[in-house]
Amino acid sequence: MGKCYPKVSDEYQKAVEKCKRKLRGLIAEKHCAPIILRLAWHSAGTYDVNTKTGGPFGTISHPDELAHEANNGLDIAVRLLEPIKQQFPILSYADFYQLAGVVAVEVTGGPEIPFHPGRPDKSDPPPEGRSPNATKGSDHLRDVFGHMGLSDKDIVVLSGGHTLGRCHKERSGFEGPWTNNPLIFDNSYFKELLSGEKEGLLQLPSDKALLEDPVFRPLVEKYAADEDAFFADYAEAHLKLSELGFADAE
Ligand code: HEM
Repeated sequence: MGKCYPKVSDEYQKAVEKCKRKLRGLIAEKHCAPIILRLAWHSAGTYDVNTKTGGPFGTISHPDELAHEANNGLDIAVRLLEPIKQQFPILSYADFYQLAGVVAVEVTGGPEIPFHPGRPDKSDPPPEGRSPNATKGSDHLRDVFGHMGLSDKDIVVLSGGHTLGRCHKERSGFEGPWTNNPLIFDNSYFKELLSGEKEGLLQLPSDKALLEDPVFRPLVEKYAADEDAFFADYAEAHLKLSELGFADAE
C-alpha cells in the first residue's frame, strides 16, 4: 500500500529538525528513551484498520486515554516531553510523539527510522483495550496486532523494542528488565529470550509466546543471530507502526 505524504511548510520542517535535536538532548540527559518509546508505541498501536479509528494522532496525552490500564505510568513520559513541545507550538502532538519515539531508538544505538511529518491531531481518544495484554499468548498477539494491520513478522521484530527498558511493579504488575543493558538498543532481547530465564531478567508470558509459536520462533532465532537483519526489519516495522492510519493513499 503506497503512502501519500502531505506537504508541510519549510517552517514546519525546520521545527521538526530543531525539535529532533532538543529531544536528543532530553533523552540523553534523563535516560528516558524506554518510556518515550513505550509512549510512541502505545500512541500508534491503538489504530484499528477496520474502523480506521485510533492511531498516532496525539490523543495519548488526553486524561481518558492515559487512564487506560495499559498506559499506566505514561503520564510520566507526557510530562517529561511537554517542556520541549512548548518550544514548538507549530508541531502537532501527533508528529511530536512519533518523532520522540524515533529519536529514542536512534540515541540508544538503534537503527535510523525515516520520519515523515504531517500527522494531524485528532480529538477522540480510542476505546480502551487495543493494546496487548502481557499475560496472554500468540493468538492474542495476532488478534491485537492484526487489528492494527500488522503482520506476524511485525509482532516479533517490534517486540525487540523490549531491548530497552523494564517493567515496574506499580505500573504493570511485573518487575525488572529484559536485558542487561536496558538503555542500549541492540538485539539482546532476542538473545536473552533464547538463552532462557536468568536471574534478574524478565520474560513475560507474551515474550515466551514468541518462543513457542512455530512462525514466531524462527524469526526470534534470526534476529538473535543477525543484528543487521533485526535493525533493517525493525526500522521498517517501526516506520509502519508510526504511520498507521496516516497518509494512506486512497
Ligand atoms: C508484543 C506485545 C507487547 C506487550 C504484551 C508489552 C508489554 C509491556 C509491559 C507489561 C511493559 C512494562 C510496563 C511497566 O511496567 O513499566 C512494557 C514496557 C515496555 N514496552 Fe512493551 N509490550 C509489547 C510490545 C512492545 C512494542 C511493540 C514496543 C516498541 C516497539 C514496546 C516497548 C516497550 C518499552 C520500551 C518498555 C519499557 C518502558 C520503561 O522502561 O518504562 N513494547 N511492555
